[in-house]
Amino acid sequence: MRQNRVFALIASCLSELGLAASGLSYNGLNLSPQMGWDTYNAYALNYNETTIRDNANLLVSLGFRDLGYKVVIFDDAMTEQNRSSNGTLVENAAKFPNGLKNLVDSAIHGNGLLFGAYSSAGRWTCGGYSASLGHEQADAAWWASLGADYLKYDNCYNEGNSGTPQLSEHRYALMSNALNSTGRNIVYSLCNWGDDKPWEWASTISNSARISGDIYDQFDRPTTSCPCGPNEYYCEVPGYACSVLNILGKASVITSKNQPGYFNDLDMLEVGNGGMTYDEYKTHFSMWAAIKSPLIMGNKLTGLSPEDYGILTNPAVIALNQDPNGAAISRQLVEQVNDKDKWGFGEVQVWSGGLYGGDQVVAYINAANTTRTISCSLVDVFGGISTNENAQEAWQLYDLWGNETVIPTSSAAMVINGTVSIEAVDNGKWYYNASQTSWAEGLAQNSSLLLGTPVGTVSAGGSLTAQNVPPHGIQLWRLKSMSQMARKRDEL
Ligand code: GLA
Repeated sequence: MRQNRVFALIASCLSELGLAASGLSYNGLNLSPQMGWDTYNAYALNYNETTIRDNANLLVSLGFRDLGYKVVIFDDAMTEQNRSSNGTLVENAAKFPNGLKNLVDSAIHGNGLLFGAYSSAGRWTCGGYSASLGHEQADAAWWASLGADYLKYDNCYNEGNSGTPQLSEHRYALMSNALNSTGRNIVYSLCNWGDDKPWEWASTISNSARISGDIYDQFDRPTTSCPCGPNEYYCEVPGYACSVLNILGKASVITSKNQPGYFNDLDMLEVGNGGMTYDEYKTHFSMWAAIKSPLIMGNKLTGLSPEDYGILTNPAVIALNQDPNGAAISRQLVEQVNDKDKWGFGEVQVWSGGLYGGDQVVAYINAANTTRTISCSLVDVFGGISTNENAQEAWQLYDLWGNETVIPTSSAAMVINGTVSIEAVDNGKWYYNASQTSWAEGLAQNSSLLLGTPVGTVSAGGSLTAQNVPPHGIQLWRLKSMSQMARKRDEL
């Protein structure tokens, strides 16, 4: 744990000096979590050239690309089911009638986006298509020839090559080496569902690894197909259809395992898929961002609602995710309350963590049944140690879901229906272009879009109170020091 905090501190210092922390990444890539869009949550295996073109165009026109959502992942079923007679993968001609290379060149690279391929470290993909175990070099070369910038590498049909960290590491390292030997920069994203604890070994061969069974579009509804509860961080049977609260619980004990270049992957976003309330989606998005999970949208961008658009484009929340300090927020407190929801959950969670320039992020989650006021001393917010320097500091509070950072639904509706561009609506007030101004530069310039809405102060040794946090909702603040005191040593 200490080692990872040291990595994060070094990264933060380097970035403040204007230097890249690329040495912390095994391949020099992915110093902040990958962002993009993936076909699977919304379309399962039923996507084709039109789906890709439509969504890729919207990534650009709705401003997502310039917020950093760049990789487009063709998730499973990209090929024919079987290999050719000489053993190569064969692109799916029915899905991509004009050819995959043409699609990648025009709709992906032609739009300033990145191409994400998919396969499994097994005999078959999870959808039953030819996968890459034993074909690593040839398949990596094929994706590279198509222009791949990213690989999501699954765990299905691994033919018993798992069960110990050594077996899994060996199997995934074969593809890591094959990708490196292509000579292309390819971000390598493991999708092994937390099997064999990848957070212990995968940072030396990859850029991220999944930590749980597949997410599903529910806040806390339990399912038998996701058999381990939120407190069982290591799960022998990861399963699928795991809720947001379930995955958050599993993530809470391994947040120290992130470093620039390697991130715990809490799975793709469900925002916009319709199964959760507005407040639940805000909590989901906030926590994925602050834990520094990859932010991979999994919804249909065609038919996006103004509310979901406002969530997915909130620059103050994305700035947490893309903060040059690669450390995740950590859970400080969980308090059970007598206010259980229909699935039997009733608790309040307090999370906090350090950001670029000594700022702090604090999140209160109301995982109970009714609206509540949540109050916590700064001592408890910062880990329960009374001498903690952060608790003895006075802070300016910024609400990251305040009206300075969330586009109003009327403006969002006009952008979505093409009446006005995101660059122009409300005189450009909602447009943050991270391709032009990096997150670190924007923060250094105190961009109000990144800081959030000022909502008062908290005095040294005081308490932080959130009024009326809705059920399954969140209060998310950025805290800025009111003195000049340097607190970097805290991160150690
Ligand atoms: C597995 C993965 C998912 C998705 C599907 C595709 O379930 O965990 O994220 O890639 O396979 O079939």
